[in-house]
Amino acid sequence: MNLEDYIASIPDYPEEGVTFRDISPLMADGKAYREAVNKIVDYADKKQIDMVVGPEARGFIVGCPVAYEVGVGFAPVRKPGKLPRKTIEVTYDKEYGQDTLTLHEDAIKPGQRVLVCDDLLATGGTVKATIDLVEKLGGVVIGCAFLIELLDLHGRDKIEDYEILTLLDY
Ligand code: PRP
Ligand code: ADE
Repeated sequence: MNLEDYIASIPDYPEEGVTFRDISPLMADGKAYREAVNKIVDYADKKQIDMVVGPEARGFIVGCPVAYEVGVGFAPVRKPGKLPRKTIEVTYDKEYGQDTLTLHEDAIKPGQRVLVCDDLLATGGTVKATIDLVEKLGGVVIGCAFLIELLDLHGRDKIEDYEILTLLDY
């Protein structure tokens, strides 16, 4: 099965010049979704992880089934004001302006081995902020897994100290 056949490419969305890589056809096909998730599970199984962490919203689509299949917990990284208990936060620079992500302060215990999952690596800002949140709590990020990497945006330069698994490159 070629997973690339299940990614839709939409020109000029959400703005001119951007090609949006849409994973919803992959999610809509049970075999393709399972194959993609299983590839990340195979990687995670070799790393003895304790937790999976993923940023909203598409990081949940990848991270939750991985956590379920490995048999570990999942901690959601969310935009401010969404998590109901005490949180820590990290603010990071985007192309225009800044953004903030939050994590419950008891989501990760010191020393826990964490796999960060998301659908797509673009500039790397989201995954770097997610890593910073995990490390603030004393977690050990053992790797980052994505379905898709957008090579032109060089997101991996922001996380060069970490292992990266990507299933498809554009
Ligand atoms: C997208 C994508 C990644 C992030 C990648 O999420 O799901 O999380 O952008 O971009 P970066 O590497 O430049 O940070 P988005 O912020 O669009 O949110 P969504 O998942 O809620 O659609
Ligand atoms: N997030 C950031 N850039 C993206 C793109 N080109 N397609 C889908 N999601 C994205």
